[in-house]
Amino acid sequence: MKRTVASVFFALLAMPFTVTALAADGAAIYKAKCTPCHGSDGQGTAMGPAFKDSQFIKTGTEAEIGEVITKGREGAAKKYKQFALGMPKQTMTEDEVKAVVAHLKTLAAKGKAETK
Ligand code: HEC
Repeated sequence: MKRTVASVFFALLAMPFTVTALAADGAAIYKAKCTPCHGSDGQGTAMGPAFKDSQFIKTGTEAEIGEVITKGREGAAKKYKQFALGMPKQTMTEDEVKAVVAHLKTLAAKGKAETK
């Protein structure tokens, strides 16, 4: 009996870590939430700018890029006038933002944008 209680206790202890590890998969978050507007490879679409070869993504800090993701960029704050709609703010944990920014940086390092 004692054993069972102890193993349930340890299983519960381990759970939050497993969930966090899964949730903070930058590539998976990107695929689920960002691909429709920014392209599967960060190449950009008619709905959003490219990350490939983007100076902002390459040189921006995690805080600067993270702020665009969590606060969005719409209306007067918009930087690119060719996109009719803005960047919708995303609800994410700090770990998820970190993971997705790291993924954006790998996309940015991949070379020239195909669409501007
Ligand atoms: C509905 C379409 C849409 C979705 C979904 C979307 N974005 Fe955006 N995003 C945009 C648009 C449009 C802009 C450009 C806004 C502007 O004019 O400054 C943008 C801008 C950005 C920028 C700033 C780029 C730069 O060069 O200044 C970052 C970073 C960004 N998005 C990250 C993300 C991430 C990460 C996700 C997924 C979690 C995401 N976006 C999902 C449309 C979208």
